[in-house]
Amino acid sequence: MRQRKSFDFDEVAMTYSQYRYPNEKLVEHVFNRVRYADRILEVGCGTADYLSILSELLHARGFGFDISPSMIMEGTRKNHRVELMVADADQSFPYEDSRFDFVFNVNLVHYIANLENLFEESFRVLQNDGSVLTVTDSCQDICERTLTYYFPETLEIDKARYPGNSSITSAMKKAGFEGIYTTKVKTTFEFKKKHFEQYRNRAYSALRLMSEEGFEEGMKRLEEDMKHGLVIGKKAYTQIWGIKIAKRDFDLPTIFAVGFNDESSN
Ligand SMILES: C[S@@+](CC[C@H](N)C(=O)[O-])C[C@H]1O[C@@H](n2cnc3c(N)ncnc32)[C@H](O)[C@@H]1O
Repeated sequence: MRQRKSFDFDEVAMTYSQYRYPNEKLVEHVFNRVRYADRILEVGCGTADYLSILSELLHARGFGFDISPSMIMEGTRKNHRVELMVADADQSFPYEDSRFDFVFNVNLVHYIANLENLFEESFRVLQNDGSVLTVTDSCQDICERTLTYYFPETLEIDKARYPGNSSITSAMKKAGFEGIYTTKVKTTFEFKKKHFEQYRNRAYSALRLMSEEGFEEGMKRLEEDMKHGLVIGKKAYTQIWGIKIAKRDFDLPTIFAVGFNDESSN
């Protein structure tokens, strides 16, 4: 079990709510791959902005939970259509078995102490043929993003916090998920005032974990670059997908092997 990375999300709930918003390209990417779902669950949903837009696009009922009561309070105020509650993803999820056809988490896994529990519980609450999705930052995403360019200290901070893709996929396999694969969404954008405000208000946890001097130095450099011309922002997201396949009561490879041997002996 990893050590839980403590961070006071109650304190930053309003900042996250005001300055963070779903990435459109990521939402489109997920929507195009899920297409159909009746009931969806976001684990560690924060103020439920991804959950709200995805449930609307999919015409699905949206459910979410988060460990922070302030995030859930703000999410409930903002996003009326979704059903939210306070719960810990390192414990049993507060839902019955086989309730959802899509279970996902975004920017959560680096706060989770017990990845095996996260995926075992995601598996339990999924129906057969349901999908699980983790959206996270790979080591490469962390190295190449604009945030790291202006605030180099955040590179080591986040490399130490984020579990690698292989830890995530092995916890998924252990939980029983099959058909595991990875996709990537890369975005480049003109860095505008709203992005500057995100950084200034430290709407990314790494900016709250770094030194004050490093933060001010990075803000100054960014301000200068924006004054002198176009700043191109870069951010990538890594998606890890899996499926809960219905339990087979026969062993497919054995049947094929027997058939093949029979033919060759004729
Ligand atoms: C970076 S925010 C992401 C929120 C949301 N998924 C999004 O992308 O907008 C991480 C969220 O994970 C929640 N979180 C951290 N540890 C958790 C845990 N053990 N169980 C449930 N939620 C947790 C935090 O309270 C916070 O709202």
